[in-house]
Amino acid sequence: MSILVTGATGQLGRLVIDSLISRGVAPQDIVAGARDTAKADDLARRGVTVRELDYTDPSTIASAFEGVDAVLLISSSEVGQRVAQHEAVIDAAAARGVSKFVYTSAPKATTTDLILAAEHKATEEAIAAAGLPAVILRNNWYTENYASDLERAGGTGVVAASVGDGRVASASRADYADAAAAVLVTDGHIGQTYELGGDVAWNYSELAEAIADVTGRPVVFHALSPEEHAAQLMAAGLDAATADFVTALDAGIRNGALEQSDGTLSRLIGRPTTPLVEGLRALA
Ligand SMILES: NC(=O)c1ccc[n+]([C@@H]2O[C@H](COP(=O)([O-])OP(=O)(O)OC[C@H]3O[C@@H](n4cnc5c(N)ncnc54)[C@H](OP(=O)(O)O)[C@@H]3O)[C@@H](O)[C@H]2O)c1
Repeated sequence: MSILVTGATGQLGRLVIDSLISRGVAPQDIVAGARDTAKADDLARRGVTVRELDYTDPSTIASAFEGVDAVLLISSSEVGQRVAQHEAVIDAAAARGVSKFVYTSAPKATTTDLILAAEHKATEEAIAAAGLPAVILRNNWYTENYASDLERAGGTGVVAASVGDGRVASASRADYADAAAAVLVTDGHIGQTYELGGDVAWNYSELAEAIADVTGRPVVFHALSPEEHAAQLMAAGLDAATADFVTALDAGIRNGALEQSDGTLSRLIGRPTTPLVEGLRALA
């Protein structure tokens, strides 16, 4: 069975390939789809089949699908362009008649008001409309998203955000990558939509405690109003649109968009998810 991983030169894609190989998939049975194949030289050296796959160039997508049975579409990082990019992959998968189509989506993508979710909702709808044998992985936040908070709070002793007492069921990228690999190599997942998150949903006071633990210095959480937060971000040099985007993400957290933690991720990977403090320590 040949498995195509898109976005293979990205952080999640590389971890998925590592996990597939550690689960016994032969490297030559993995097709690493990369828009810039030069970035995948290390994968080619490991025996992985590297093919050009640019979401904006359907001819590369069609060639990348040759001989492929299963595919993991890792959502594109080009926010705002993603629906058309993902649809190009969906079309190629439907034309090829793949036996499994796995997509990395966002928590409660079809019902949430989380600002980033609209493109994931549209993608899930396109997958359903194409009639693909699909598995949807609705990934919660990566703990790695907090690398800059870790660095900043290590200096200032403060985590500032407008999330209120909202909770985030984050897990490490490697946890989500293991889940994707597990779903790709085992049966019984077609038709499932998995809400994936860490075993523990933490609030920002707990984030501050975890950063204090990792940095060895006191860190506190400053709860800001959305207006205070936007003003602080702009004072730090962000433009108004970016500040609005960040405060909208925090509003999603405040309203509970990322709080779900039902153990599905740890069940899929057969181990507990990486605790917040360990995920942060790996970044320090
Ligand atoms: N759950 C979360 O907390 C969270 C956080 C951030 C992002 N995400 C989503 O999860 C995805 C994977 O995360 P990640 O950490 O692996 O992100 P990443 O390291 O930025 O990787 C994104 C991948 O998408 C590829 N890509 C972008 N535009 C492309 C195009 N036009 N054609 C083909 N490939 C293209 C990039 O190619 P290059 O290697 O050439 O750049 C890269 O391989 C992201 O793309 C984003 O949709 C989720």
